[in-house]
Amino acid sequence: MAFPRQRPRRLRSTPALRRLVAQTSLEPRHLVLPMFVADGIAEPRLIASMPGVVQHTRDSLRVAAAAAVEAGVGGLMLFGVPREQDKDASGSCGLDPDGILNVALGDLAADLGDATVLMADTCLDEFTDHGHCGIVDSAGRVDNDATNEQYVKLAVAQAHSGAAVVGPSGMMDGQVAAIRDGLDDAGYPDVAILAYAAKFASSFYGPFREAVGSSLLGDRRTYQQDGGNAREALREITLDLEEGADIVMVKPAMAYLDIVAAAAEISPVPVAAYQVSGEYAMITAAAANGWVDGRAAALESLTCIRRAGADIVLTYWAADAARWLS
Ligand code: PBG
Repeated sequence: MAFPRQRPRRLRSTPALRRLVAQTSLEPRHLVLPMFVADGIAEPRLIASMPGVVQHTRDSLRVAAAAAVEAGVGGLMLFGVPREQDKDASGSCGLDPDGILNVALGDLAADLGDATVLMADTCLDEFTDHGHCGIVDSAGRVDNDATNEQYVKLAVAQAHSGAAVVGPSGMMDGQVAAIRDGLDDAGYPDVAILAYAAKFASSFYGPFREAVGSSLLGDRRTYQQDGGNAREALREITLDLEEGADIVMVKPAMAYLDIVAAAAEISPVPVAAYQVSGEYAMITAAAANGWVDGRAAALESLTCIRRAGADIVLTYWAADAARWLS
Protein backbone atom coordinates (compact mmCIF):
# COMPACT_ATOMS: atom_id res chain seq x y z
CA MET A 1 0.00 0.00 0.00
CA ALA A 2 1.45 3.36 -0.98
CA PHE A 3 0.02 5.35 1.94
CA PRO A 4 -0.35 2.94 4.85
CA ARG A 5 -1.14 5.68 7.38
CA GLN A 6 -4.09 7.12 5.45
CA ARG A 7 -7.41 6.89 7.27
CA PRO A 8 -9.93 8.95 5.26
CA ARG A 9 -12.57 8.49 7.95
CA ARG A 10 -10.62 10.87 10.24
CA LEU A 11 -11.94 13.83 8.25
CA ARG A 12 -15.51 12.57 8.54
CA SER A 13 -15.63 12.29 12.30
CA THR A 14 -17.57 15.46 13.20
CA PRO A 15 -20.00 17.73 11.38
CA ALA A 16 -17.51 20.60 11.77
CA LEU A 17 -14.73 18.61 10.12
CA ARG A 18 -17.00 17.50 7.31
CA ARG A 19 -18.04 21.11 6.78
CA LEU A 20 -14.42 22.23 6.72
CA VAL A 21 -13.42 19.76 4.03
CA ALA A 22 -16.61 19.89 1.93
CA GLN A 23 -15.48 20.27 -1.65
CA THR A 24 -18.74 21.26 -3.33
CA SER A 25 -20.98 24.09 -2.25
CA LEU A 26 -24.66 24.47 -2.98
CA GLU A 27 -25.97 27.97 -2.44
CA PRO A 28 -29.30 29.57 -3.31
CA ARG A 29 -27.57 31.82 -5.86
CA HIS A 30 -26.60 28.76 -7.90
CA LEU A 31 -30.25 27.83 -8.46
CA VAL A 32 -32.63 29.10 -11.13
CA LEU A 33 -36.37 28.50 -10.79
CA PRO A 34 -38.32 27.58 -13.95
CA MET A 35 -41.87 28.97 -13.70
CA PHE A 36 -44.97 28.56 -15.84
CA VAL A 37 -47.46 31.34 -16.51
CA ALA A 38 -50.71 30.54 -18.28
CA ASP A 39 -53.15 32.72 -20.17
CA GLY A 40 -56.87 32.55 -19.53
CA ILE A 41 -56.92 30.92 -16.10
CA ALA A 42 -58.41 32.52 -13.01
CA GLU A 43 -56.58 30.40 -10.44
CA PRO A 44 -53.20 28.68 -10.42
CA ARG A 45 -53.58 25.26 -12.03
CA LEU A 46 -51.93 22.21 -10.50
CA ILE A 47 -49.66 20.09 -12.70
CA ALA A 48 -50.53 16.53 -11.74
CA SER A 49 -47.19 15.00 -12.70
CA MET A 50 -45.22 17.71 -10.87
CA PRO A 51 -46.72 17.99 -7.39
CA GLY A 52 -45.77 21.36 -5.92
CA VAL A 53 -45.40 23.04 -9.32
CA VAL A 54 -48.24 25.04 -10.88
CA GLN A 55 -49.20 26.99 -13.94
CA HIS A 56 -49.44 30.49 -12.55
CA THR A 57 -51.84 33.28 -13.31
CA ARG A 58 -50.15 36.61 -13.93
CA ASP A 59 -50.92 37.62 -10.36
CA SER A 60 -49.87 34.42 -8.65
CA LEU A 61 -46.66 34.47 -10.69
CA ARG A 62 -45.76 37.88 -9.28
CA VAL A 63 -46.26 36.66 -5.73
CA ALA A 64 -44.34 33.41 -6.22
CA ALA A 65 -41.52 35.13 -8.12
CA ALA A 66 -41.07 37.72 -5.39
CA ALA A 67 -41.01 34.96 -2.77
CA ALA A 68 -38.39 32.97 -4.70
CA VAL A 69 -36.21 36.04 -5.07
CA GLU A 70 -36.66 36.76 -1.36
CA ALA A 71 -35.51 33.20 -0.67
CA GLY A 72 -32.32 33.98 -2.58
CA VAL A 73 -32.56 32.10 -5.88
CA GLY A 74 -30.08 33.15 -8.55
CA GLY A 75 -32.67 33.75 -11.25
CA LEU A 76 -36.05 32.90 -12.75
CA MET A 77 -36.70 31.14 -16.06
CA LEU A 78 -40.15 31.86 -17.46
CA PHE A 79 -42.27 29.64 -19.73
CA GLY A 80 -45.52 30.85 -21.27
CA VAL A 81 -48.64 28.73 -21.70
CA PRO A 82 -51.03 30.35 -24.18
CA ARG A 83 -54.69 29.54 -24.63
CA GLU A 84 -55.28 26.65 -27.03
CA GLN A 85 -57.12 28.90 -29.49
CA ASP A 86 -54.14 31.29 -29.68
CA LYS A 87 -51.73 28.62 -30.93
CA ASP A 88 -50.91 28.53 -34.64
CA ALA A 89 -48.41 26.93 -36.99
CA SER A 90 -45.72 29.58 -36.47
CA GLY A 91 -46.22 30.19 -32.75
CA SER A 92 -47.05 33.85 -33.35
CA CYS A 93 -48.53 34.40 -29.89
CA GLY A 94 -45.01 34.05 -28.52
CA LEU A 95 -43.95 37.12 -30.50
CA ASP A 96 -47.00 39.19 -29.59
CA PRO A 97 -46.05 41.88 -27.06
CA ASP A 98 -49.45 41.20 -25.47
CA GLY A 99 -48.84 37.44 -25.41
CA ILE A 100 -48.77 35.79 -22.01
CA LEU A 101 -45.02 35.26 -21.76
CA ASN A 102 -44.19 38.80 -22.79
CA VAL A 103 -46.67 40.48 -20.48
CA ALA A 104 -45.50 38.31 -17.59
CA LEU A 105 -41.89 39.24 -18.30
CA GLY A 106 -42.99 42.88 -18.18
CA ASP A 107 -44.72 42.31 -14.83
CA LEU A 108 -41.68 40.71 -13.27
CA ALA A 109 -39.24 43.22 -14.74
CA ALA A 110 -41.34 46.00 -13.21
CA ASP A 111 -41.70 44.26 -9.84
CA LEU A 112 -38.19 42.93 -9.42
CA GLY A 113 -35.93 45.08 -11.56
CA ASP A 114 -32.31 44.19 -11.00
CA ALA A 115 -33.07 42.20 -7.83
CA THR A 116 -32.98 39.01 -9.89
CA VAL A 117 -31.93 37.68 -13.28
CA LEU A 118 -35.02 37.35 -15.42
CA MET A 119 -34.77 34.69 -18.12
CA ALA A 120 -37.17 33.56 -20.83
CA ASP A 121 -37.49 30.28 -22.70
CA THR A 122 -36.88 31.23 -26.31
CA CYS A 123 -38.66 28.42 -28.10
CA LEU A 124 -41.83 27.90 -30.09
CA ASP A 125 -43.18 24.59 -28.83
CA GLU A 126 -45.39 26.16 -26.19
CA PHE A 127 -46.93 28.40 -28.85
CA THR A 128 -47.35 26.15 -31.90
CA ASP A 129 -50.50 24.14 -32.60
CA HIS A 130 -48.39 21.16 -33.75
CA GLY A 131 -46.14 21.33 -30.69
CA HIS A 132 -42.82 21.33 -32.53
CA CYS A 133 -40.06 23.73 -31.52
CA GLY A 134 -40.03 25.37 -34.94
CA ILE A 135 -41.68 26.02 -38.27
CA VAL A 136 -42.74 22.80 -40.01
CA ASP A 137 -42.33 22.67 -43.80
CA SER A 138 -44.64 21.01 -46.33
CA ALA A 139 -42.74 17.75 -45.96
CA GLY A 140 -43.41 17.78 -42.22
CA ARG A 141 -39.83 18.60 -41.23
CA VAL A 142 -38.79 21.39 -38.92
CA ASP A 143 -37.25 24.05 -41.19
CA ASN A 144 -34.01 25.15 -39.53
CA ASP A 145 -33.51 28.59 -41.04
CA ALA A 146 -37.16 29.64 -41.08
CA THR A 147 -37.25 28.67 -37.41
CA ASN A 148 -34.18 30.75 -36.61
CA GLU A 149 -35.85 33.80 -38.14
CA GLN A 150 -38.79 33.27 -35.82
CA TYR A 151 -36.45 32.74 -32.82
CA VAL A 152 -34.81 36.10 -33.50
CA LYS A 153 -38.19 37.83 -33.35
CA LEU A 154 -39.07 35.89 -30.21
CA ALA A 155 -35.80 36.83 -28.51
CA VAL A 156 -36.15 40.49 -29.42
CA ALA A 157 -39.75 40.52 -28.12
CA GLN A 158 -38.57 38.94 -24.87
CA ALA A 159 -35.70 41.40 -24.49
CA HIS A 160 -38.12 44.24 -25.18
CA SER A 161 -40.45 42.87 -22.49
CA GLY A 162 -37.71 42.82 -19.88
CA ALA A 163 -35.81 39.55 -20.14
CA ALA A 164 -32.14 39.96 -19.18
CA VAL A 165 -31.30 36.50 -20.50
CA VAL A 166 -32.88 34.60 -23.38
CA GLY A 167 -32.72 30.81 -23.45
CA PRO A 168 -32.93 29.31 -26.93
CA SER A 169 -33.93 25.69 -26.31
CA GLY A 170 -34.93 24.50 -29.76
CA MET A 171 -31.62 23.00 -30.92
CA MET A 172 -31.67 24.58 -34.39
CA ASP A 173 -28.26 24.90 -36.04
CA GLY A 174 -27.02 28.47 -35.88
CA GLN A 175 -29.69 29.66 -33.44
CA VAL A 176 -27.25 31.35 -31.07
CA ALA A 177 -25.51 33.34 -33.82
CA ALA A 178 -28.84 34.37 -35.34
CA ILE A 179 -30.21 35.52 -31.99
CA ARG A 180 -26.99 37.33 -31.05
CA ASP A 181 -27.06 39.28 -34.32
CA GLY A 182 -30.77 39.98 -33.91
CA LEU A 183 -30.42 41.24 -30.35
CA ASP A 184 -27.47 43.44 -31.26
CA ASP A 185 -29.26 44.90 -34.27
CA ALA A 186 -32.36 45.61 -32.19
CA GLY A 187 -30.38 47.50 -29.56
CA TYR A 188 -30.04 44.77 -26.93
CA PRO A 189 -26.30 44.09 -26.84
CA ASP A 190 -26.43 43.46 -23.09
CA VAL A 191 -29.09 40.79 -23.16
CA ALA A 192 -27.27 37.51 -22.56
CA ILE A 193 -27.83 34.14 -24.22
CA LEU A 194 -28.17 31.04 -22.09
CA ALA A 195 -27.75 28.43 -24.82
CA TYR A 196 -29.36 25.05 -24.41
CA ALA A 197 -26.21 23.77 -26.06
CA ALA A 198 -26.43 20.04 -25.45
CA LYS A 199 -30.08 19.15 -25.22
CA PHE A 200 -30.99 15.52 -25.55
CA ALA A 201 -34.23 14.00 -26.86
CA SER A 202 -35.27 12.72 -23.45
CA SER A 203 -38.20 10.89 -21.93
CA PHE A 204 -37.49 12.87 -18.78
CA TYR A 205 -39.34 15.85 -20.32
CA GLY A 206 -42.64 13.95 -19.99
CA PRO A 207 -44.16 16.00 -17.16
CA PHE A 208 -43.12 19.27 -18.84
CA ARG A 209 -45.35 18.45 -21.77
CA GLU A 210 -48.26 18.42 -19.33
CA ALA A 211 -46.97 21.56 -17.64
CA VAL A 212 -47.12 23.58 -20.87
CA GLY A 213 -50.09 21.76 -22.41
CA SER A 214 -47.92 20.75 -25.36
CA SER A 215 -49.71 19.59 -28.49
CA LEU A 216 -46.77 17.50 -29.73
CA LEU A 217 -47.45 14.24 -31.54
CA GLY A 218 -44.32 12.32 -32.42
CA ASP A 219 -40.89 13.31 -31.16
CA ARG A 220 -38.10 15.83 -31.48
CA ARG A 221 -35.35 13.51 -32.65
CA THR A 222 -34.55 15.46 -35.80
CA TYR A 223 -33.38 18.40 -33.69
CA GLN A 224 -32.63 17.18 -30.15
CA GLN A 225 -29.65 14.91 -29.60
CA ASP A 226 -29.43 11.17 -29.16
CA GLY A 227 -28.81 10.31 -25.50
CA GLY A 228 -25.80 8.18 -26.27
CA ASN A 229 -23.82 10.80 -28.17
CA ALA A 230 -21.17 12.47 -26.01
CA ARG A 231 -18.88 13.61 -28.83
CA GLU A 232 -21.78 15.29 -30.59
CA ALA A 233 -22.68 17.11 -27.36
CA LEU A 234 -19.22 18.63 -27.21
CA ARG A 235 -19.52 19.63 -30.84
CA GLU A 236 -22.81 21.39 -30.10
CA ILE A 237 -21.28 23.16 -27.10
CA THR A 238 -18.25 24.28 -29.12
CA LEU A 239 -20.47 25.64 -31.88
CA ASP A 240 -22.60 27.58 -29.40
CA LEU A 241 -19.46 29.07 -27.86
CA GLU A 242 -18.25 30.14 -31.30
CA GLU A 243 -21.67 31.65 -31.98
CA GLY A 244 -21.53 33.81 -28.87
CA ALA A 245 -23.25 31.86 -26.07
CA ASP A 246 -22.77 33.55 -22.70
CA ILE A 247 -23.71 30.46 -20.72
CA VAL A 248 -23.91 26.90 -22.07
CA MET A 249 -26.38 24.40 -20.70
CA VAL A 250 -26.67 20.63 -20.62
CA LYS A 251 -30.12 19.09 -20.32
CA PRO A 252 -31.31 16.85 -18.69
CA ALA A 253 -28.90 16.78 -15.76
CA MET A 254 -28.77 13.57 -13.74
CA ALA A 255 -28.40 11.04 -16.54
CA TYR A 256 -25.96 13.35 -18.34
CA LEU A 257 -23.42 14.28 -15.66
CA ASP A 258 -20.53 13.10 -17.81
CA ILE A 259 -21.58 15.71 -20.38
CA VAL A 260 -21.78 18.35 -17.66
CA ALA A 261 -18.25 17.43 -16.55
CA ALA A 262 -16.95 17.49 -20.11
CA ALA A 263 -18.59 20.86 -20.72
CA ALA A 264 -17.03 22.27 -17.55
CA GLU A 265 -13.67 21.02 -18.76
CA ILE A 266 -13.75 22.89 -22.08
CA SER A 267 -16.02 25.87 -21.49
CA PRO A 268 -14.64 29.37 -20.99
CA VAL A 269 -18.14 30.53 -19.98
CA PRO A 270 -20.33 29.37 -17.07
CA VAL A 271 -21.96 25.96 -17.43
CA ALA A 272 -25.57 25.35 -16.46
CA ALA A 273 -27.45 22.08 -16.10
CA TYR A 274 -31.23 21.68 -16.21
CA GLN A 275 -32.69 19.22 -13.74
CA VAL A 276 -35.81 18.59 -15.77
CA SER A 277 -39.42 17.83 -15.00
CA GLY A 278 -39.02 14.04 -15.03
CA GLU A 279 -36.13 14.20 -12.58
CA TYR A 280 -38.26 16.31 -10.26
CA ALA A 281 -41.25 14.01 -10.73
CA MET A 282 -39.31 10.82 -9.98
CA ILE A 283 -37.92 12.01 -6.68
CA THR A 284 -41.20 13.66 -5.71
CA ALA A 285 -43.16 10.49 -6.47
CA ALA A 286 -40.74 8.31 -4.52
CA ALA A 287 -40.87 10.71 -1.60
CA ALA A 288 -44.69 10.71 -1.66
CA ASN A 289 -44.54 6.94 -1.26
CA GLY A 290 -42.14 7.24 1.64
CA TRP A 291 -39.44 5.50 -0.39
CA VAL A 292 -36.86 8.28 -0.23
CA ASP A 293 -36.48 11.36 1.91
CA GLY A 294 -37.56 13.96 -0.66
CA ARG A 295 -35.67 16.92 0.71
CA ALA A 296 -32.45 14.96 1.22
CA ALA A 297 -32.68 13.39 -2.24
CA ALA A 298 -33.33 16.76 -3.86
CA LEU A 299 -30.38 18.42 -2.13
CA GLU A 300 -28.13 15.44 -2.85
CA SER A 301 -29.05 15.52 -6.54
CA LEU A 302 -28.37 19.26 -6.74
CA THR A 303 -25.06 18.99 -4.91
CA CYS A 304 -23.95 16.23 -7.24
CA ILE A 305 -24.93 18.21 -10.34
CA ARG A 306 -22.73 21.00 -8.96
CA ARG A 307 -19.95 18.50 -8.25
CA ALA A 308 -20.03 17.34 -11.87
CA GLY A 309 -19.21 20.90 -12.90
CA ALA A 310 -22.40 22.93 -13.20
CA ASP A 311 -22.02 26.51 -12.04
CA ILE A 312 -25.77 27.04 -12.31
CA VAL A 313 -28.62 24.54 -11.91
CA LEU A 314 -32.14 25.05 -13.20
CA THR A 315 -34.41 23.13 -10.87
CA TYR A 316 -38.06 23.12 -9.83
CA TRP A 317 -36.76 22.90 -6.26
CA ALA A 318 -34.88 26.20 -6.52
CA ALA A 319 -37.06 28.20 -4.13
CA ASP A 320 -37.59 25.30 -1.71
CA ALA A 321 -33.91 24.42 -1.73
CA ALA A 322 -32.95 28.06 -1.19
CA ARG A 323 -35.09 28.03 1.96
CA TRP A 324 -33.76 24.66 3.11
CA LEU A 325 -30.19 25.92 2.68
CA SER A 326 -30.61 29.10 4.68
C1 PBG B 1 -38.61 23.37 -25.09
C2 PBG B 1 -38.32 22.94 -23.71
C3 PBG B 1 -38.62 21.71 -23.13
C4 PBG B 1 -38.16 21.77 -21.82
C5 PBG B 1 -37.61 23.03 -21.63
N1 PBG B 1 -37.71 23.73 -22.81
C6 PBG B 1 -39.40 20.57 -23.66
C7 PBG B 1 -38.88 19.75 -24.74
O1 PBG B 1 -37.79 19.97 -25.27
O2 PBG B 1 -39.60 18.84 -25.13
C8 PBG B 1 -38.25 20.65 -20.82
C9 PBG B 1 -38.08 21.05 -19.40
C10 PBG B 1 -38.44 20.02 -18.42
O3 PBG B 1 -38.74 18.85 -18.76
O4 PBG B 1 -38.42 20.34 -17.24
N2 PBG B 1 -39.17 24.66 -25.11
